[in-house]
Amino acid sequence: MTDTRDDSAATAGERSVESTHGRRMRITLTVWRQPSPRVPGTFETYDVPGVSPDMSFLEMLDLVNERLTHEGKEPIAFDHDCREGICGSCGFMIDGQAHGPERRTAVCQLHMRKYRDGDHITIEPWRAAAFPLIRDLIVDRSPFDRIIGAGGYIGVSTGGAPDGNEIPIPKPVADAAMDAAECIACGACVAACPNGAAQLFTSAKMQHLNLLPQGQAERWDRTINMVETMETYFGSCTNHRECEAACPKAISIDFIALMNKDYLKAQFKQRRLVGQTFP
Ligand code: SF4
Ligand code: FES
Repeated sequence: MTDTRDDSAATAGERSVESTHGRRMRITLTVWRQPSPRVPGTFETYDVPGVSPDMSFLEMLDLVNERLTHEGKEPIAFDHDCREGICGSCGFMIDGQAHGPERRTAVCQLHMRKYRDGDHITIEPWRAAAFPLIRDLIVDRSPFDRIIGAGGYIGVSTGGAPDGNEIPIPKPVADAAMDAAECIACGACVAACPNGAAQLFTSAKMQHLNLLPQGQAERWDRTINMVETMETYFGSCTNHRECEAACPKAISIDFIALMNKDYLKAQFKQRRLVGQTFP
């Protein structure tokens, strides 16, 4: 898929100046409605007048829901929490793109100034076998929790709090670990992948520990357990790179390469266990 997203700061700036004039837009919104997994879903279309360009996409949905509630109809169910792009709760497909048309932006941080008066927008939930639908735009992302759980804990010394600088960590390593730790577990990478693979998420969650000295004690067990849990739920990676393009935190597929390298190494590390079992 060609990535047509626009991340130009100048364009966003121009549009935000334009938005200060109290302009209102009228959009047409087509939404996937499905009350439960047991009932077939369908697209429903709504006329949405009075949309401010300063509204976030989720505030626009709030506006629609207010009107639906006033009319005695069921509001559109969607996940959200922080609305600041940090919790990973939000996320759905907007016109076929995970989190919508703005690069490196979770849907809660997408603003209606990205759209024009008269636009027709279609939204639907993540479509992935591992993320079964719960209702409307909400899917069950608990397989992510299984992977995190499989990663376990890191061993730390108990006792007095150590000095933060006690363990020297090279700056590039600390930076890479921080980049991996930016993953907010939104699931866009899985939804964007034609295989429904979770390599980008799993590698980010693994490598932010595997790269650091504090993550070494359980490194090989963590690697095996997380990869094998991932493989029980999700498809396999065939390097389409759709995950990287869809990720609101710009997690690099380099972390997938690091995960694969660690997984290969972990296989050899575990061979000594076989040797103990069969002397
Ligand atoms: S890797 Fe990116 S797209 Fe995938 S869950 Fe993490 S933040 Fe979301
Ligand atoms: S609501 Fe928290 S990241 Fe969007």
